[in-house]
Amino acid sequence: MNGDNAISNEEQAATDQTLPCFDGVALVSGAGSRGPGFGTGKASVVLLARLGWAVVVLDSDAARAEETAELVLGEGGRASSFVADVRDSASAGLAVEHAVSTFGKLTTLVNNVGVYKPGLVTQMTDDDLALSLDVNTKGMLYLTRAAVPAMQEAGGGAVVNISSISAHVQASPAGTVAYAASKGAMESAAKILAGELGPLGIRVNTVVPGTLNTPLLQLALSQKEIELRQSVAPLGAGGNAWDVAQAVAFLAGPWSRWISGATLPVDGGLLTVSAAMHSGA
Ligand SMILES: NC(=O)c1ccc[n+]([C@@H]2O[C@H](COP(=O)([O-])OP(=O)(O)OC[C@H]3O[C@@H](n4cnc5c(N)ncnc54)[C@H](O)[C@@H]3O)[C@@H](O)[C@H]2O)c1
Repeated sequence: MNGDNAISNEEQAATDQTLPCFDGVALVSGAGSRGPGFGTGKASVVLLARLGWAVVVLDSDAARAEETAELVLGEGGRASSFVADVRDSASAGLAVEHAVSTFGKLTTLVNNVGVYKPGLVTQMTDDDLALSLDVNTKGMLYLTRAAVPAMQEAGGGAVVNISSISAHVQASPAGTVAYAASKGAMESAAKILAGELGPLGIRVNTVVPGTLNTPLLQLALSQKEIELRQSVAPLGAGGNAWDVAQAVAFLAGPWSRWISGATLPVDGGLLTVSAAMHSGA
């Protein structure tokens, strides 16, 4: 780098040639979609594959995983499905082994899987509480732990987690306490992991989606309700899975090579406004 912190064209060109991004190998969890269209996992797989990554499509539902993998293969990309429940720590190791044996290495992990069980705290059973923490938090930790040695072997890598604005604000009157606890823990863990894994050449960042127009929400809310929720954001309605996928690609790729421990909201600016803005007072 030059002394004035600017980077010359020659340096940028040399950097582009040495970055592993476009021959990277990604493992994306929860990479099917629970309905027609694109969830954030499925969109991330497709975008990463279009950019050159080979992708292992991990989902607990075999048909959903296969559908996403077939989509990539149909576009001429590289993908392989892997059926596993992220709550099973042994499966995390097997998924990483599958990436290495199929595509030769692992450079990128997208911890996309997430489940939301609505309920106020007094309504939540032990099983309800365990579900969010086991899938959303422990699942992310199991996969990250399994991925680290392979990423080191590959010369470095990037972990991208998918959190939620629910980790920061009350996002639904139906109750979000278990979901919020699990996503908040995911965000805290990501910051600590950025410090732990940075010296190994592994970056860890988190995308924080707001309300998205995805199959996940389309099954729970009407189109009008989704748009009403989105319209509270300064940028208004319109956010979908591709907005998250583009943030994932940025944080997985060379453009963010000096970014770690960041949380990036993809929410139309929703987290910048308080209820006062909509109180009419
Ligand atoms: N849609 C939104 O509005 C919104 C908002 C904020 C955050 N998010 C987050 O985005 C992610 C949602 O991803 P999506 O849109 O791809 O959702 P999706 O529900 O369409 O897909 C998730 C996939 O995960 C799989 N899955 C569920 N439990 C699993 C497990 N234990 N092991 C392995 N796979 C499992 C499902 O079979 C499904 O195919 C989640 O982390 C969610 O918390 C979504």
